[in-house]
Amino acid sequence: MEIKTDFLIIGSGIAGLSFALKVAPFGSVAIVTKKNKLESSTNYAQGGIAAVMSSEDSFEEHIKDTLIAGDGLCHEEVVKMVVEEGPARIEELINWGVPFTHKRKGNKKEFDLGKEGGHSKRRIIHAKDFTGQEVERILVDKVEKDPRIKIFEHHIAIDLITQSKFAEEKATDKKDACWGAYVFDIEKGVVHTFLAQITLLASGGVGKVYLYTSNPDIATGDGIAMAYRAGARIANVEFIQFHPTCLYHPEAKNFLISEALRGEGGILKLMSGTPFMEKYHPLKDLAPRDIVARSIDLELKKSGEEYVLLDISHKDSGFIKKRFPNIYKKCLEFGYDITKVPLPVVPAAHYVCGGVVTDRQGETDISRLYACGETACTGLHGANRLASNSLLEALVYAHRAARKAIEEIKGARTEFSRIPSWNPGGAVDSDESVVVSHNWDEIRRLMWNYVGIVVSNKLLDRAQRRIALLQEEIKEYYWDFIVTRDLIELRNIAVVAELIIRCAQQRKESRGLHYNIDFPYKDDEHEKKDTIITQGELTNP
Ligand code: FAD
Ligand code: SIN
Repeated sequence: MEIKTDFLIIGSGIAGLSFALKVAPFGSVAIVTKKNKLESSTNYAQGGIAAVMSSEDSFEEHIKDTLIAGDGLCHEEVVKMVVEEGPARIEELINWGVPFTHKRKGNKKEFDLGKEGGHSKRRIIHAKDFTGQEVERILVDKVEKDPRIKIFEHHIAIDLITQSKFAEEKATDKKDACWGAYVFDIEKGVVHTFLAQITLLASGGVGKVYLYTSNPDIATGDGIAMAYRAGARIANVEFIQFHPTCLYHPEAKNFLISEALRGEGGILKLMSGTPFMEKYHPLKDLAPRDIVARSIDLELKKSGEEYVLLDISHKDSGFIKKRFPNIYKKCLEFGYDITKVPLPVVPAAHYVCGGVVTDRQGETDISRLYACGETACTGLHGANRLASNSLLEALVYAHRAARKAIEEIKGARTEFSRIPSWNPGGAVDSDESVVVSHNWDEIRRLMWNYVGIVVSNKLLDRAQRRIALLQEEIKEYYWDFIVTRDLIELRNIAVVAELIIRCAQQRKESRGLHYNIDFPYKDDEHEKKDTIITQGELTNP
């Protein structure tokens, strides 16, 4: 089936939904999302959103903290812009009904601002410890009430449709243009052609490339892989943020224990009960995440233990239950009462600081293709994201991208050439799904073991050789068999794994989240720059 729309949005997290609400008055909107509409990293965000919301805080301090965390690679003008535009976007969420937590100060009510690693001030606005769930709920509710927006659940975008692939006449301004995407309807097993004046990649992060991750299953880097295949620049994907504290439990699927818990006095300890972060950083347990994750990694390698402990049991139990109801309840289900005992925790892949390169309006290298949220590389995070700056970035960029896209759609409209339907080639039903699940597992394991918190040249080279072989195998399999969600995602995690490895190999220093034991120092003279990768070739059928 061919579906024509003004705006095609790939993803229903904070970036996709907030963009949809803003563009809807100017045209028809289709949101495709590969599971149910709520399923996104956004829905699991705990800590909150960083923004200057108090007279005791200032833009200058938020900017400074972001730049320090970013370790020399943030684009300063972007940091300034995002920080300064943040409060207006938060006001919008408040007006839309997000119930941020308040506290009493004397007889006045004010926002209860949380503290997280790397922040010099309390500036995390939150809804208890399930901020993302509340934001997602409100945004989905608003989108569902808007008749101009249609959500296609269980629809997974496979590849972008670009002008250079199909038009008889090539783009005149030398820039390729995006005309939409091929999208697989998972429940019906058919591929639809979505043609759009404007396409937004809002498909989130890449956590599932790693064996252990805080991310939900949707985070397979599809947007980054699609943009790369279409020829857009990808930058800085070697900067993978490992969250220091995910619950260590066979059934917990790496449930996140928010940094806000350390912000309220939680202490990391060895199995002996000895706190250890003071050895590594003056900010101790609230040091930037890369430092905390690496310190835990080092302690685990030294001791041979499986996990370290996170202890908040010394705080008042009433306060803990009120401030962290979600974490308290979830840990109790796994047998840990956090008001009484410390929790076993380990680091896990959490956030990709790089992605599809965009300008300050969220525009990519490909005309009429925008990217926002975790999929994008805007220049805000540099070599390490400051905690709770990602929801903020998604809001600011969705707003800016919407403004630009509206302007664009009011101008010239694309006349599409005839686009062929998806060609399954000689594909047949696969009776070898074991190959797909084996390759999934192999990629995730090799990324965890070889391209993890600390890397070396030898490990990266080994990983690169393995991935090249797997890529060959997946390519063959992909064209021989009928597409499934697992196969589409496998193809994408393989591309993203390769991009991470190639970016990591290019960076001959250690900076921010990237730590290579063969280049243990920062090299400002030669390496203070983004790592950019382009392919420029299309793999659409
Ligand atoms: P997402 O919210 O991940 O949404 C992506 C959407 O794209 C999903 O709907 C998905 O189904 C869809 N999708 C993906 N691929 C396709 C495809 N091929 N076709 C169709 N649909 C597709 N950040 C903060 O700032 N503060 C926090 O407190 C915080 N806590 C976090 C806690 C956890 C457990 C996690 C995992 C992350 C946290 N983060 C936090 C990071 C933050 O939540 C994410 O970076 C942010 O939500 C990303 O939003 P997004 O809209 O870009 O993507
Ligand atoms: C957390 O709550 O610790 C996650 C915050 C973030 O990833 O920004």
